[in-house]
Amino acid sequence: MTNFSNNLINDFPEYLFNKINTQKLEARKNGRDVIDLGYGNPDIPTHSLVVDKLIESAQNKKNHKYSVSKGILGLRSAMKNRYKRIYDIDLHEEDNIVNTIGSKEGLTHLLMSVLDKGDNIVIPDPSYPIHHFAPLIAGGTPIKIKCLDVDQFLNDLTEILNTKKVKVVLISFPHNPTTLTVTQEFYDRLVFLARTHDFLIVNDFAYSDVFFEGQRPPSLLNSDKEFSHSVELYSLTKGYSMAGWRVGFALGNKEAIQSLTKLKSYIDYGTFQPIQIASAVAINDLDSYPLEVSKTYKERRLLVVENLEAFGFSVYASDATMFVWAKIPDFYEKKSMDFSLEILKTSNVAISPGIGFGSEGEGFIRIALVENKQRIRQAMKNMQIFFDDKI
Ligand SMILES: Cc1ncc(COP(=O)(O)O)c(C=O)c1O
Repeated sequence: MTNFSNNLINDFPEYLFNKINTQKLEARKNGRDVIDLGYGNPDIPTHSLVVDKLIESAQNKKNHKYSVSKGILGLRSAMKNRYKRIYDIDLHEEDNIVNTIGSKEGLTHLLMSVLDKGDNIVIPDPSYPIHHFAPLIAGGTPIKIKCLDVDQFLNDLTEILNTKKVKVVLISFPHNPTTLTVTQEFYDRLVFLARTHDFLIVNDFAYSDVFFEGQRPPSLLNSDKEFSHSVELYSLTKGYSMAGWRVGFALGNKEAIQSLTKLKSYIDYGTFQPIQIASAVAINDLDSYPLEVSKTYKERRLLVVENLEAFGFSVYASDATMFVWAKIPDFYEKKSMDFSLEILKTSNVAISPGIGFGSEGEGFIRIALVENKQRIRQAMKNMQIFFDDKI
């Protein structure tokens, strides 16, 4: 009988985090109180003004029809104004902005609309899993570059560019999982390379609004004001805590944005209009909310870092994201997956093994700061038991 699943999907490996997830669910079924710091699913609610606007707009039957796949003008204008206000960048709402179903869908369809079969695309390793798979879905050939240090990343990229033709370089700073951040100068250097070797830079900017100490992460587009070689993916998921709403944008290079807009117009009719209207309220009126959300993540981060360091981890210092990335102490000789499974078993805490983000993530763990401080304190106490046994 025919196997109605294609070779591409058949060949995708089992999602590495499934192992942890399955055991977490099993433990919960058995009545254990598992504290989940594995999955980066924000627990902070969306602002009430946005929820109220959604309810109000949903009650208007005019909003029940198909919307516009590229996003309503009011939403694209809100983004245009935000980029001007925050970064002093001039985007055109028709040429340079398209609404996406979060940055995850946006990235995948963007790559499908810019890559031809076999085109080389550079991706950082470790990376958020879709960064490994979207290039394959789009028919590209991924070239992985170790990304545990940003200068090293640029050096390695420069070497590759000297020997290979690359169509796209995918980056994502502030970075998940490593929490690495970059300066505007990093983007200046990257844009210089892009102009020299003629490739498109795609920056997944999902953590643009989660930052501490006033250190707002720079935008790639500020180093390429005409967007000749750059696209940025922006998202309301993390900064505005709107994960389930699925609202993101692709911004920048006109040909790439128009290509994505065209592809999307064949595939869908756009996000439910009340969600778009409510999202415009978030973008226009709530600049201060991501700062509040960030403050919460920062407080949680301090708690985790203090404890992990006491357990013997080396923690990556960072002023952004909702994660902690840490090197497992040397006395633990097994792999990051074993470590995560043991922590789940002994301490009822779910964490992500670094290997789940790519081979360069081996030896690390990622903790997502998605439980309140009391639960995080409890998680750290639970983990203490594991380390008391070892030290
Ligand atoms: C780097 C990165 N990109 C994209 C996403 C998904 O974001 P969105 O909800 O906008 O699709 C995540 C979520 O964890 C992420 O870490």
